[in-house]
Amino acid sequence: MRIRIFDTSHEAGLYAASIVEQTILNTAHPVLGLATGSTALPLYEELVRFHRCGLDMAHVRSINLDEYVGLGADHPQSYRYFMNQHLFGHVNIPEEQTHVPNGTATDLASACLDYDDIVRKYPIDIQILGIGVNGHIGFNEPDDLLLSNTHVVTLTHETVRSNARFFESEDDVPKQAITLGVQAILQAKSIILMAFGEAKADAIARSIQGEVRTDVPASILQLHRDVTFILDTQSASKLSASRSMRG
Ligand code: F6R
Repeated sequence: MRIRIFDTSHEAGLYAASIVEQTILNTAHPVLGLATGSTALPLYEELVRFHRCGLDMAHVRSINLDEYVGLGADHPQSYRYFMNQHLFGHVNIPEEQTHVPNGTATDLASACLDYDDIVRKYPIDIQILGIGVNGHIGFNEPDDLLLSNTHVVTLTHETVRSNARFFESEDDVPKQAITLGVQAILQAKSIILMAFGEAKADAIARSIQGEVRTDVPASILQLHRDVTFILDTQSASKLSASRSMRG
């Protein structure tokens, strides 16, 4: 496990983007596992800038982690819309090579199975993760057990409250989502988890320095052999110095 701590999320985003760029340059058919949310924005800003400076992404495939149930691609808070706005609309990844779970499928169970087929067919080279204040990754929420495969999840009150900042009110936040399970995440060849701000400090300390527990889903990343935590000073503020210095 590597830990990198930056003064600003902007610097952190640049570092993450250079790692992703190396994967894009050094892999014949790179598959990026992508996250949405405010944490991913500095990374996407830099990837868009890299693309404007010549980074070709025509051979890239992307597989997003999750999508709200009930929100279609044209809904401004859907994750497909987010990806179009912040990345896909500005780079040259062909649309048919971008995958986001279908939150408006009439048969959600079969949409989940289809999504697992995509991940099996296109193994993820590098998985980008944010982390919830409760330690969730994707929408794998704290629970007695973590599910392996893509599934429909009922979001915790904490997640609904936290994501209400993107909606007019808490009532408008969908209460369910489709998410990749932990198996697909752990099978990625490498993983980057980014976290910024003091609100994430507890979840980061528990994920990196605590026990591996299903009620802190990100702690399962301790079991992966190639994980980089890319943090700012606030999200790293509850790590003990000896460990955070080790990197
Ligand atoms: C979103 C996702 C979530 C977010 C997490 C952090 O695709 O997978 O796990 O990464 O909720 O969200 P932000 O970055 O908005 O704090």
